[in-house]
Amino acid sequence: MGEKDIERQAPNVARMKMLGATVVPATSGSKTLKDATNEAIRDWINHPQDTFYIIGSVVGPHPYPDMVTRFQSVISKEIRSQLKEKVGTELPRAVIACVGGGSNAAGTFYHFLDEPSVDIIAVEAAGCGVQSGMSAATTQLGKPGILHGSKSYVMQTADGQVVEPHSISAGLDYPGIGPIHANLFVTGRGRFLSATDKEALEASFELAKLEGIIPALESAHALAALKQLKFEKDENIVICLSGRGDKDMETYMKELNKK
Ligand SMILES: Cc1ncc(COP(=O)(O)O)c(C=O)c1O
Repeated sequence: MGEKDIERQAPNVARMKMLGATVVPATSGSKTLKDATNEAIRDWINHPQDTFYIIGSVVGPHPYPDMVTRFQSVISKEIRSQLKEKVGTELPRAVIACVGGGSNAAGTFYHFLDEPSVDIIAVEAAGCGVQSGMSAATTQLGKPGILHGSKSYVMQTADGQVVEPHSISAGLDYPGIGPIHANLFVTGRGRFLSATDKEALEASFELAKLEGIIPALESAHALAALKQLKFEKDENIVICLSGRGDKDMETYMKELNKK
């Protein structure tokens, strides 16, 4: 795990340690997700006899993006079943999810990919603003390239060097997207929006006030995108709340202290 993320996601690190994991800090580059992925793959290829590589996002070499997408597809299976039960139809007007590497989004979209009436909306982290030089909005800033063993969209310089991303949320602070999302972007099947750090924070506080739910900072990006969209009153919109905000309380507390 990136050294910076060990700090900003401290409660998750404590949980992993309690459950018996050894957490090794990745100290290269920006000390975040990209660097942790580099180090994990580096360790794996140096110790292939006794290392089993696993990843939680839809990035990395084949078959990982495909495997993780299929595992996460329980999300859209569950959405269909709950919608059927609660509103009598399995198909919402739109499904919205944040994209770091894109696993919660891939799972949310999977069983709607062949349903053209359902809008697929992916939300990337704009960080301090898409053009600020501190952003992780890969489809807007990236070009086709190869990162961590798969061809996709990657934020890179003209020489193909990876550009350091920025997002307030550790999970979206990544300069690529899974190949499934690059495909949704290029084919136009998915619509790609972005939300800034500030908009995500505002959305978290709004959800907490209105619904009593404290979302993960990553999920808050998906919520923030609602302000950029227009729907009819009776349309069903599903937003994936990919995680709880417990792990982000330190960031939320800093924000509260500014108010
Ligand atoms: C709560 C939460 N949501 C979303 C993400 C982004 O990952 P992905 O894009 O693979 O869903 C992360 C990553 O750590 C996360 O912790």
